[in-house]
Amino acid sequence: MAYVHGYDARETERLGDQAGTLVELLHHDTGYPAGSTVLEAGCGVGAQTVALAARSPGARITSVDVSAASVAAAEARVRAAGFGDVAFAQADIFALPFAPASFDHVFLCFVLEHLADPVGALMALARVVKPGGTVTAIEGDHGSAYFHPDSAAARDAIAAQVQLQVAAGGDALIGRRLYPLLRAAGLEQVRVAPRMVYVDGSRPDLIDGFTRRTFTAMIEGVRAPALAAGLLDADRFDAGVRDLYRTAAEDGTFSYTFFKGVAATRG
Ligand SMILES: C[S@@+](CC[C@H](N)C(=O)[O-])C[C@H]1O[C@@H](n2cnc3c(N)ncnc32)[C@H](O)[C@@H]1O
Repeated sequence: MAYVHGYDARETERLGDQAGTLVELLHHDTGYPAGSTVLEAGCGVGAQTVALAARSPGARITSVDVSAASVAAAEARVRAAGFGDVAFAQADIFALPFAPASFDHVFLCFVLEHLADPVGALMALARVVKPGGTVTAIEGDHGSAYFHPDSAAARDAIAAQVQLQVAAGGDALIGRRLYPLLRAAGLEQVRVAPRMVYVDGSRPDLIDGFTRRTFTAMIEGVRAPALAAGLLDADRFDAGVRDLYRTAAEDGTFSYTFFKGVAATRG
């Protein structure tokens, strides 16, 4: 299945910015005890892996991704950050090279949104978790983006990204479905917490790190496929991106909600 954002250097940088800016919001309550075993699925270039390792001293983390190039980049990044004890492997969530009940916990972030069968993925991951272990999933939801000044063109550009992700087999609106997906996978004690990012002129770090370099860069990044698919014309798309950048001005605001779900495997 095509990964809608691609694997190029700019995407690598975008995921890095995203993780750096949002790390507290998403991970202030992510942490695994020393000695526990943790599988990170779909680690990408390791943006979350660094946060995981930093918050879980002594935990034994194994990070996998279906893309060998991403795994190599993740390993380099995590080693450069000084975490020598994370294990890496190229692996597909749907064909995991681990025996059932191999891990105490599984963690995944921004992965389910790209999968045609997110429940199947969660079931495959739950199988390698010990009874009573946990599965943590973090996802976004592009339908949660609203901003000032509002712009119909910006909403059209975002909608084009959502449509492209559907065409690639994913769901960019998956955050709102996290609870039912975790339940459908047979997981228990499911708790989903919204994590809202709100950006205004008083937060230059978020203006740059989130509004500009994360969300708007992501939308800007689908220009070519959106135009090729005929979802909207170039002028409309470019006006939408321009209007998204406009929300990053001193008098603009931008809001977006992530969803973090934590659930237990049957004990
Ligand atoms: C948006 S990236 C997120 C990366 C990382 N978790 C982060 O938050 O920065 C999604 C990742 O999921 C990986 N992925 C997609 N399908 C997968 C599968 N079936 N098995 C393992 N990884 C997969 C992609 O290769 C990509 O690296």
